[in-house]
Amino acid sequence: MHEQHYSIPEGGYADYAELARSLESLLSGEPDLVSCAANTTSLVFYSLPDLNWVGFYLLDAASGDLLVGPFQGRPACVRIPLGKGVCGTAAAERRTMLVPDVHAFPGHIPCDTASNSELVVPVIDRGRLIGVLDLDSPRLGRFDDTDARGIESLVEVFVRAVRV
Ligand code: SME
Repeated sequence: MHEQHYSIPEGGYADYAELARSLESLLSGEPDLVSCAANTTSLVFYSLPDLNWVGFYLLDAASGDLLVGPFQGRPACVRIPLGKGVCGTAAAERRTMLVPDVHAFPGHIPCDTASNSELVVPVIDRGRLIGVLDLDSPRLGRFDDTDARGIESLVEVFVRAVRV
């Protein structure tokens, strides 16, 4: 059983490696997808500065679309077809999308008008597409390569934790 209070250090984590270790400990012992996804979005949202939305879009096997999953932030678009928007593109092409200015991205799907930049990392478990993890920021150019690699490392921790 985990301790009741999971504290995020004041001033945030030193780097993504430290945040990844924290996520590993937060997710350990419970492989449920929704539970792990929910706590992952909360940890990321409250650990990194300048974010207005962090959440999963999960692949719906029946329709083949992405459906909004656990998230932190304002209510969001529910369904995103593969190949559409930043999330659908990341999922279809199975690659991380770093978008410094969402208004310059053709086909961007605006959910929260506060979002100006976006980072989307595909979630893939042993070759199987699970969905994407989407981070939005009100700040233009908020995300760089360090963030992309860092969030990819968190997604790896997440995928290992939900394995059953
Ligand atoms: N902007 C995303 C849609 C999801 S929201 O940002 C929460 C996109 O273009 O795929």
